[in-house]
Amino acid sequence: MYFGGDYNPEQWPEEVWDDDVRLMREAHVNLVSVGIFAWARLQPDEGEFDLGWLDRLLDKLHAGGIAVDLATATASPPAWLVRRYPDVLPVTETGTVLGPGSRQHYAPTSPDYRRLAAELVTALGRRYADHPAVAMWHVNNEYACHVRADFSEHAARAFRTWLADRYGDIDALNEAWGTAVWSLHYDGFDDVRPPRASPTTQNPSLVLDWRRFTSDSVLELYRMERDALRAAGATQPITTNFMGAFPAMNYWDWAAEVDLVSHDGYPDPRDPEAFRHAAFAADLMRSLRPGRPWLLMEQAPNAVQWRPSNAAKAPGQMAAWSEQAVARGADGILYFQWRQSRSGAEKFHSAMLPHSGTRSRTWKEIVELGGALEQRDAACPPRGDVAVVFDWENWWALTQVDLPADVDYQAEVFAWYRALHARHVQVSFVRAGDDLSGYRLVIAPALYLLTEDGAASLEQFVGSGGTLVTTAFTDVVDENDRFRPGGYGRQLADVLGGEPVDFFGVLPEDGRSARGLDGEPLAVITMVEDFELHDGEALARTGEGEPVLVRHHYGSGTSLHLACFTDRSGIDQVLDRATATAGVRPVVGGLDPTVEAVTTARGVTLINQSRRPTSVTTPDAAFELSPYEVRHLIA
Ligand code: GAL
Repeated sequence: MYFGGDYNPEQWPEEVWDDDVRLMREAHVNLVSVGIFAWARLQPDEGEFDLGWLDRLLDKLHAGGIAVDLATATASPPAWLVRRYPDVLPVTETGTVLGPGSRQHYAPTSPDYRRLAAELVTALGRRYADHPAVAMWHVNNEYACHVRADFSEHAARAFRTWLADRYGDIDALNEAWGTAVWSLHYDGFDDVRPPRASPTTQNPSLVLDWRRFTSDSVLELYRMERDALRAAGATQPITTNFMGAFPAMNYWDWAAEVDLVSHDGYPDPRDPEAFRHAAFAADLMRSLRPGRPWLLMEQAPNAVQWRPSNAAKAPGQMAAWSEQAVARGADGILYFQWRQSRSGAEKFHSAMLPHSGTRSRTWKEIVELGGALEQRDAACPPRGDVAVVFDWENWWALTQVDLPADVDYQAEVFAWYRALHARHVQVSFVRAGDDLSGYRLVIAPALYLLTEDGAASLEQFVGSGGTLVTTAFTDVVDENDRFRPGGYGRQLADVLGGEPVDFFGVLPEDGRSARGLDGEPLAVITMVEDFELHDGEALARTGEGEPVLVRHHYGSGTSLHLACFTDRSGIDQVLDRATATAGVRPVVGGLDPTVEAVTTARGVTLINQSRRPTSVTTPDAAFELSPYEVRHLIA
């Protein structure tokens, strides 16, 4: 089990380093990420490297028994680079050049940035490939976190090349994007531009490909660094830090290119549901590479500094959230950052070692957790019986503005995950089109963009005995965001026992509801389908008689289609029915929803994620969990 954090020794005189190593040992630290923002220190000018200080630091850490996750340091270009090559700077959709003075000020497709980044990475790789302290490599940092898309001329050129590879010729692109609408026809790839600011809505097919390109081009940049490290002789695992359900990068694609998934999570201690958001991110990270541990690369030891108001973590809360990650498959708990900065934008961000030093509560909690984790081996939990589909391409397609109603895909997926989490059901995430065999229940909220592979996997799943839950706005468009010939619902009509023939927005003042299961009202919110029943059975209908929940037996399985979106209580009604049909059971029954329960490789971990004591009764025992207490029940 790894324990440690980002270590930025370039911010401190060397005399402090000995103290750092001594205190790291006291805190049970065994891994630190070094040099993430140290480009200016490592390379004072083009072609000139200053690695002596890093040699001394790595030797010192190694002598202290502390391993290093060595950064490639490409996340913040130095002043000389911008002075000499100003067009490395990224550009926003309105044409504003994002200047230096903070960080991440580079266009991912800029040839000069890529060339200079490769030189730095190669120099580091050659020097430290065999250094005994280096346990892994940390490429760049949180790719695209500040610059979610770059609209520069470099990006425009790279986009055209990407499109030419995808479509071969411009006729195929015109067809795929439906450019007969609004005179958008292109005579050649050179006519295509990034979706920069425009009078009104851009062609959504273009925007969808732009998002694919943006994720692919940044991934390409990651691969360039990774391959440069390998070419320089590095044999250690290589990773870059993901950010949970981060909209701009398709982490299903990215996960295949890293040796281990690592994740940065900053839930807001003020949000009583923060632990469920953190669980969502943890399960997503685990699911990206099933059966392999992942690393919590960053979390805050206590408060952050970047929200308008930054609340403390309650005593025990940091440990409870860390234990949650371990239970969900993390093999390391790391923080931003080791020693609190004296200056700069992050000087108020908590650190493992705050300015108040070893007398602080933060320090004491860090040392205690480090000690506890030292005794622990990492292991992946089983994947569970329930899969929730989470698909980036679908997310991108749904972020367009001109829909029957705005659909917040991430919030919708989270709403279903949340309900399952609160009833202590173990969940994995899948990508549309994955093999679903072995799951009992699959939930596919708002799967608007449904490819043929995606539809085939859902059909196969239900046909062979699975239970599928779908919502409104499923199976609407193809991979280019076009309707299929004949309209919507063309692929799943047989499975669902009917098809949507239209979609309408619903606002709270419309006051729509249906009579749901067991006569309970079922809220109809955001959107409702005009759903044409074939051989499905309506389990709930609106006052006007429109079906809003449709059950259908298909093959040896069952589908439940919710022809609208609904609220928490509606989701619970559907889940009661779906889990009963699928025979899905909670990890532990009868728990308070604020107690988190995870089936681990060794038994069950229970975590009281609230500020109140909570009593727990299992078939074998009854006990009380104090606030944020963690209890491991060994099977
Ligand atoms: C992360 C970033 C770190 C640090 C941290 C502060 O997004 O990777 O370098 O800035 O946020 O919360």
